[in-house]
Amino acid sequence: MRTWYPRFRGKKTARGEKLHILGMLRAQRRHISFHTPGHKRGGADITELSYSDNLASPAGVIAEAQADLARITGAAQSFLLTDGSTSGVHAMLHALASRGIRRVACPERSHRSVATGCELAGLVRVPVFCGTAAGIPLQPTAKDAETALSQADALLVTSPDYYGNFPDLAALRALCDRENKPLVIDGAHGAHLHGTPLYAGRYADMWVDGVHKSLPALTQGALVSAGSGWTDALASSVGYFRTTSPSYPIMASVEYAVKYPRNAALEEAAQALKARIGAYPNADWSKLLLPFGDRADAAQAALERQGIYPEFNDGNYLMFYLSPATTRGELKTLERALRRLPRGTLRTLQAERGEIPLGARIVALPPAEAEGRVCAADCGLFPPCIPLILRGERVGAAQAALLQRAGGTFGLQEGKIPVFEEA
Ligand SMILES: Cc1ncc(COP(=O)(O)O)c(C=O)c1O
Repeated sequence: MRTWYPRFRGKKTARGEKLHILGMLRAQRRHISFHTPGHKRGGADITELSYSDNLASPAGVIAEAQADLARITGAAQSFLLTDGSTSGVHAMLHALASRGIRRVACPERSHRSVATGCELAGLVRVPVFCGTAAGIPLQPTAKDAETALSQADALLVTSPDYYGNFPDLAALRALCDRENKPLVIDGAHGAHLHGTPLYAGRYADMWVDGVHKSLPALTQGALVSAGSGWTDALASSVGYFRTTSPSYPIMASVEYAVKYPRNAALEEAAQALKARIGAYPNADWSKLLLPFGDRADAAQAALERQGIYPEFNDGNYLMFYLSPATTRGELKTLERALRRLPRGTLRTLQAERGEIPLGARIVALPPAEAEGRVCAADCGLFPPCIPLILRGERVGAAQAALLQRAGGTFGLQEGKIPVFEEA
């Protein structure tokens, strides 16, 4: 197995950046542990000790790491997260609420953490209506966003999304400036873009970087950042959503990953591969999507038999997540395997809107029986963790079948879809 720090073993990156947290961990003396964690093995997995700083009130290596990460990402302040982008999305929404914001415009098919964060912070979601094309939810246009923002106090978008699509960030920034309302970006899939014109931090008042998804960090490692107007609000909100026992390996890996050098050769190879094999033409090199349509399950099974695991299968597309740590050899192996697999026909998974019956009871039905009924909760596949059926939409046959055989779902109750009981 490879470690999460394969490219450099010293205390500095190839670009000469110091690794503060990893350096501290490597410089430790062996000691007898009368502290947590209970495995007593010491090593990198330690707790807050006299020399290891404290994420809740950083003044040592963690403060130095966070300052470097803010400089690299162009933030006024950045905060390490060991609880995934979910905690960053929640913190940003809480920060908005703490400044009196009550209504947030966001695309209906945002990640689940947006809905749960709004609920936790007492924020009303104002839906930004976006279409779908080729079986993929689209990003909002500036017009879509403007319509929703006229009834809201802030705008939240995802950029890029799981499918590698971007909204027009410059237009959305201009819109928010005109309206004097904050722009918040869920960048769970965009940490690898810092330093490029597509980076969320160039446009947002607050944004999250899902470092563990597209850079070589340990799972759950993320970063949430603020521009100059929002540092105080975010600094106090972030503490509500972080564990009081943050993992040092995760924190060190986030610092390592954000400082990881770009892999321009791999980025070019990925874009060329996409064009050669007819992948979905997105703008993000790190997301390779192959349209297998109704043959997606068979293609996934065939690949897994060869030891190749995609990120997700949404019933139409197999998604392959790349990072600067992906090798050219791995891309070649993937290409050879993909070329042997037949493509099918894209399924239509668009839901039809229904009427939410007033005062109706909610019952949970097996997917086949729920077909045609009005759904009582946002339901979907996990990942990508965006709703396949929204509360208030009718459960379609193709969606019911997909939820029935999916490995991971959300919104369902023990495999059953909550629907409104009909009179
Ligand atoms: C768009 C988006 N936002 C937020 C998240 C939450 O990220 P995490 O799993 O790191 O908590 C995800 C996870 O898939 C996501 O896709």
